[in-house]
Amino acid sequence: MSKYVTTPIYYVNGEAHIGHAYTTFITDTVARYERLKGEETFFLTGTDEHGQKIEESAKKNNKPTQQFADEISATFKNLWDEFEISYDKFIRTTDADHKAGVQKAFERMYNKGDIYKDFYEGHYCVSCETFFPETQLEDGEFCPDCGRSTSVIKEESYFFKLSNYEQKLLDYYEAHPDFILPRSRANEVINFVKGGLRDLSVTRTSFSWGVKMPESINDDKHVMYVWLDALMNYITALGYGKDEAKMDFWPADIHFVGKDILRFHAIYWPAFLMSLDLPLPKHIAAHGWWTRDGEKMSKSKGNVVHPKEVADAYGVENLRYFMMREVPFGQDGDFSQRAFIDRINSELSNDLGNLLNRIIGMSGKYSAFVIDSKDVQKYHEKEITAANEILDNLDAFMQNIQPHRYLEELWKIFGIANKAIEEHAPWAKMKEGKEDMALATVALVANLLAKASVMLHPFMPKTTNKIASALSFTIDTKSYEDLVLNKNLLETFTIEKIPPLFPRIEEPLMPEEQPKQEVKKEQPKKEQKVETKKEEDNLIEIGQFFETSLKVGTVVEATEVPKSKKLLLLQVDLGEEKPRQIVAGIKEFYSAESLVNTQVCVVANLKPAKLMGHLSEGMLLAAKDEDGLALVRPEKPKKSGTPIG
Ligand code: MSP
Repeated sequence: MSKYVTTPIYYVNGEAHIGHAYTTFITDTVARYERLKGEETFFLTGTDEHGQKIEESAKKNNKPTQQFADEISATFKNLWDEFEISYDKFIRTTDADHKAGVQKAFERMYNKGDIYKDFYEGHYCVSCETFFPETQLEDGEFCPDCGRSTSVIKEESYFFKLSNYEQKLLDYYEAHPDFILPRSRANEVINFVKGGLRDLSVTRTSFSWGVKMPESINDDKHVMYVWLDALMNYITALGYGKDEAKMDFWPADIHFVGKDILRFHAIYWPAFLMSLDLPLPKHIAAHGWWTRDGEKMSKSKGNVVHPKEVADAYGVENLRYFMMREVPFGQDGDFSQRAFIDRINSELSNDLGNLLNRIIGMSGKYSAFVIDSKDVQKYHEKEITAANEILDNLDAFMQNIQPHRYLEELWKIFGIANKAIEEHAPWAKMKEGKEDMALATVALVANLLAKASVMLHPFMPKTTNKIASALSFTIDTKSYEDLVLNKNLLETFTIEKIPPLFPRIEEPLMPEEQPKQEVKKEQPKKEQKVETKKEEDNLIEIGQFFETSLKVGTVVEATEVPKSKKLLLLQVDLGEEKPRQIVAGIKEFYSAESLVNTQVCVVANLKPAKLMGHLSEGMLLAAKDEDGLALVRPEKPKKSGTPIG
C-alpha cells in the first residue's frame, strides 16, 4: 500500500504567508506520519504559474513573465526547504512535462467528446474577473460581489461538458460520504451541484500566458483555463501522459485545500478525472482560513503574517505545533502572538519540556543517568495501560484529519507522566530506601516520553529526534512498531543531558500587532471647508444633505455570505424594534467576528436592495484608499440609532 498526499500549488504572484504554511504543514505532518508507519508515501507540492493574474503581476513588476514566475516559485521552494518540508516533488506548471501532460489530458477529453468549441457569452465583471449568470446580477446589470457595472462579453471558447457529470458526481458523493472532509463541508458542494452545473469554459483567448492547445487540435488563439491546467498537476507529477511509472500512486489519498478552492477540487477535478477514466482521489480535505488578531490578513492592511518571520523568532516546529493544535481542522483560525506564546509556555515548556528536565535531573541523581525498565510493569501497570490505550486511539484522529484532537489526546500521556511523578514522589521513596520503586517511576516517565515522542514526531520531527537521542533511541518505523504497536518498553538505556528544549517565553519576540496607522492631525475645520470648496463643484444645499438619514448602529451579528469573496451579512441595531440586515462589501478588510459589538455609521433610509440573494436594508459608511478600507465609526460609543448630522 502506498500513500499520496498533496498541497495546492501556490500562485506565484506573492510570497508565502501563514495560510500557505498551514496547508504545507498539515500535508507534511500526514506524509511523515504515514512514513513513520512504514507506508511508501509520495508528497507533492509546487507552484501554479499561468493565467492572467500572473501575467499582469509580472508586467507590474517590469519583468518577463517566466522570469517573474521563476523568482517567486523559488521563494516558495526555498522556504519549504528551509522549513525542512519533506516533499518528494516540487512541481511547476511551467515545467515542460507538466504542460505536455495537460495537453494529453485535454486531447483525451476532446477525443472522447467531452470538450467542444462554442462561444462564451456572459456578464463579466472586470474588477472581480468573474462571469456571473444573469440571475445573480443586481438590477440585471450590476456585479453581485462588488456592485460595479458588468459588461456582456462574447468570446470563442472550448467547453468541458460539466453538465454531463452532474448526476455522476451526486451519485459519487452519496456513495463516498468521506470524499469531502470535514463531512460538514460536503453539503455546500452537493447543493452547488444540485443547483445545476453549466458546461465549463476551459480555454481563454484574451491572454496568452497559459498552456497551449494540443497540436492535434491546432488552435493557437486559445490557451488553457488556468484551473484545468493547475488541477492536472496532481497526475502530471506522477508522469501522466508520459512516463507513467509513478501513476501507481494514483489515486491520491488526500488533496489538502483551503475552503476557498474546495469547489474546484470537489466538482471540476472529479469530473475531469471521470472523463479521463481515472479513479477519483480518496479525500479532499478542506481547511479554514487564518486571520491575524481577529482580522483578515491583506497586503494593503499590512497585517500579513510571514511564516519565515515567525519561524525565525519562535522556531518553525513551535509554529507547526501551534497551527496544528490551535484550530480544529476545517475551521477558521486566528494567529495571535499571545495565544502562540501561551501554548509554547504551557504545553511545550511546562508539560513536555519539564518532563524531560525532570527525567534528566532524577536519573542523574539516583542512577547515574542509567534507566532500567524492569520494574515498570510491576509498579505502574495502571499508567502504562492508560497510556497504551491513548496511543491506540491516535490513528483514528489522524485518519479523520483531526490533528488538534490527536495532539490533545497525546498530551494526556504527558499528564499521566507528570501526575505519576507527583503521586509517587521518587525523591521521597529514595529517602525511605525504596530505591526500586523510585527508579521504576523514573523509568515509567522516560518510557512514556519515548512513546509519546514517536507519535509527536510527524508534527515536530527535529525536536522529537532530540528527545529520542536524549533517551538513547531512534525514531523510525521500527521504534514505532516496537514502542507503540507492540507496546514494548525501552531496554536499559542511558539518558543524555541536553539543554532545555522550550525555554519559557516572557515577552513577544516579534513586533506586536502592526502599528496603528498614525492619526493625521486634524485640519482646522474652516480650512477644510475652504479646501472642499476649491475641490468640489457639485455643491448641495444643507437640506439635500439632511435627506440622507445617517445613524449610529451597533453590529450584533456578522456572518460571511457563502460563495462571496467580498460580502458580509450584518445584523445592525439601529435602536429599532429589530436589527437591520445589511450586506456590506468589506469581507476583504474585516473578519465577521471582529465586527460584532462594534459601532458603525449607517445610511438608514436607502431603498432596500438584494445582494447575492440577501436583503440589504442600509449601507455602512467607509473610506477606501490605496492602503485599504476603513469603516467610519463614532469616536465614542453612542446609543444605537443616534442620528448623525
Ligand atoms: N493556485 C491555486 C490552487 C491550485 S491547486 C490545483 C490557489 N493558490 S493560492 O496561492 O491562492 O492559495 C493556495 C492555498 O492557500 C489555498 O488552499 C488557500 O485556501 C490557502 N490560503 C490562502 N490564504 C489563506 C489564509 N489566510 N488562511 C488559510 N489558507 C489560505 O488557490
